[in-house]
Amino acid sequence: MKSTRPVSVLMVCLGNICRSPLAEAALRAAAKRKGVAIKVDSAGTGDWHIGHAPDRRAQAVAKRLGGIDIGHFRARQVTRDDFYRFDHILAMDEANFRHLSLMRPADGTAKLSMLLDHLPGHEGTPVPDPYHGSVEAFDAVFRQVTEAAEGILRRLT
Ligand code: 4NP
Repeated sequence: MKSTRPVSVLMVCLGNICRSPLAEAALRAAAKRKGVAIKVDSAGTGDWHIGHAPDRRAQAVAKRLGGIDIGHFRARQVTRDDFYRFDHILAMDEANFRHLSLMRPADGTAKLSMLLDHLPGHEGTPVPDPYHGSVEAFDAVFRQVTEAAEGILRRLT
């Protein structure tokens, strides 16, 4: 029987200031558009940016391409507890995936996958880290996470 509890998804990248906040915002916006109840959060495997707002370039692309304000988001680090609190944990790239695989508790209930595993034709491919890239790299990330959000809604909810 399908649970009435909303599906919960945690987006994870390295710093939680570029890719995963955009993925969080894109999935929440797509769910709202479709009227799907979902719980979404994001976190980083690293601790450098804990408490920081998203990178200004990530804030700008969310506003420009999605009309979404992510300025109030604050970075946090992923915890072991997250493996019990979320149904799905989605890694942006292979390094994030490996980190999460290693920290995952043996009885953790969350299903771990890569974000683009949920975008047909892009399974196993990473969302590249745009931190040292250009504005275009941030645009590409926003487009990828928005397309993936549609796939996630079709497959996971
Ligand atoms: P993110 O990007 O993992 O998409 O948030 C990065 C942000 C910061 C750093 C690396 C990646 N950093 O090395 O500080």
